[in-house]
Amino acid sequence: MNSFEINKVIAAILVTILVVFGIGKISDIIFDKGKESIVAYKVEAPEGEAVQASSEASVDMSALLAMGDIAHGEKVYKKCKACHSIKQGGGNKIGPALWNVIFRPIGSITDYKYSKALSSYGKEWTWEEMNGFLIKPSKWIPNNKMGFAGLKSEKDRASVILYLNQNSDDPKPLP
Ligand code: HEC
Repeated sequence: MNSFEINKVIAAILVTILVVFGIGKISDIIFDKGKESIVAYKVEAPEGEAVQASSEASVDMSALLAMGDIAHGEKVYKKCKACHSIKQGGGNKIGPALWNVIFRPIGSITDYKYSKALSSYGKEWTWEEMNGFLIKPSKWIPNNKMGFAGLKSEKDRASVILYLNQNSDDPKPLP
């Protein structure tokens, strides 16, 4: 091998190193960027949810409940009946017993096995929480296991909430 050929070999090796290193660098950059944008997305999502949740929570509950009617609520409750008992002393079915549910801490029936989403939620069933949950349960408390799409109609929600409130040892005064 003459020195010209040796130079060519060295040059080829250098180019190879450069290319390999270069690709590594480029993919590092792309990968890093990829990670960043995933992280950014994850941070943004709950913030968006929180903003939406708080705007939904600030619904004027006294106006909403004024649309309600207990007799209509009893009819709406037929949609819940397959999974819940509402009677005093009624047990759990697919879902937990609902006697006394208004202002009860969320996920607090001791002999019912809640999803982690519900048992760790840490609030109580205020008017706002119940309204928000019943609009679309899977959105209000993500990953809960209540297989129910929700009640779109304000009158239906107001009425069933009044009906839940009435089925209690101590119905709460309306807001
Ligand atoms: C297909 C069955 C099903 C239907 C229909 C259903 N639920 Fe549920 N519900 C559940 C299950 C299961 C849970 C427990 C959710 C969990 O642990 O994540 C639950 C939980 C709840 C809770 C939380 C109670 C607590 O102890 O914290 C409320 C309130 C509730 N449901 C109200 C209703 C109302 C009101 C309706 C009708 C408009 C309804 N549900 C319809 C299955 C159902």
